[in-house]
Amino acid sequence: VSEISVIGLGAMGSALARALVRSGAATTVWNRTPERGKPLVAEGATQANTIEEAVEAASLILVCIDSYPCTHSLLARSPASTRMFGRILIQLSAGSPNEAREAERWAQSLGAGFLAGAIIAYPAEIGRAEANIIVSGAEPAFRRAEPYLRKLAGDLQYLGPRVGAAAAFFLAQSSYGLGYNMGLIHGALICESEGIGVDVYGAAFNSTKAAMIGERTRRRADIIHRNDFANTGASINVWNDVVEQIRAQARDVGINSEFPDYVSALFKRAIEQGFATEDITATIKVLRNRPRR
Ligand SMILES: NC(=O)c1ccc[n+]([C@@H]2O[C@H](COP(=O)([O-])OP(=O)(O)OC[C@H]3O[C@@H](n4cnc5c(N)ncnc54)[C@H](OP(=O)(O)O)[C@@H]3O)[C@@H](O)[C@H]2O)c1
Repeated sequence: VSEISVIGLGAMGSALARALVRSGAATTVWNRTPERGKPLVAEGATQANTIEEAVEAASLILVCIDSYPCTHSLLARSPASTRMFGRILIQLSAGSPNEAREAERWAQSLGAGFLAGAIIAYPAEIGRAEANIIVSGAEPAFRRAEPYLRKLAGDLQYLGPRVGAAAAFFLAQSSYGLGYNMGLIHGALICESEGIGVDVYGAAFNSTKAAMIGERTRRRADIIHRNDFANTGASINVWNDVVEQIRAQARDVGINSEFPDYVSALFKRAIEQGFATEDITATIKVLRNRPRR
């Protein structure tokens, strides 16, 4: 009998299994392509011959394969599903909040506990202090799994019982990443078109600036959370002037302007709706398609 079974031994699943084995946890592994289990067996894992065996071997079943539909097709159509009663399924494959909710309902129908997690780390970081794993789902299940999840990620965040929260939080963080990367890319276009080295531009984002951006992000998220956009360092009007200058530069030198055009269109709507003197975050009011309670 193992403490935990790991299903899926791709780049990430192998890293998770390896961290568990190295931490001393009795670990059973299973992968569709069995060869991928060999290095883990060499380190002390037990390899199950079938997925049913893997499920039976432990009360905690950690899955990390391509997707939720893959997991469902693996578990639901095999006798493994009849062995899930009383076990806890920890789904660390990437998925949407809705997929997490559906999977929780399915696990509950089998009498199993369910946790959904999002890994914000590369395989090489698993088991280290900087590895970030976000988890949501029923608290008793989390408390059972927590000691093992802590072996995987020094930075473990539990977001509470709403099972879709981990996936939603991952998407929210990814959205932030998309935004700053698109800003970075347009900034690089400006530098290239004006003869400024993109390396010089990159070097300007030093640790002082990074700390400032972090502090402003927290402050702006708090403004949105409080839904109070009155106090501002720079209003939408001021930001609108900036975006129009960026668009003018693009026109002058003939570079692409899709990114500032998109932002400009949002600011125009915010100004039309009367938010010109409010904080830039008031733009969310033109994007919400239902009033905030
Ligand atoms: N790698 C990362 O940096 C990273 C970071 C965060 C999150 N993740 C997430 O972790 C999950 C796994 O990623 P990975 O990097 O380990 O991918 P990977 O190296 O491509 O491995 C994919 C795994 O899924 C299995 N698989 C795929 N389709 C299957 C099916 N129909 N039935 C059974 N097994 C199936 C593969 O089995 P075979 O070996 O038999 O093909 C393999 O174990 C993904 O959801 C990914 O988004 C990865």
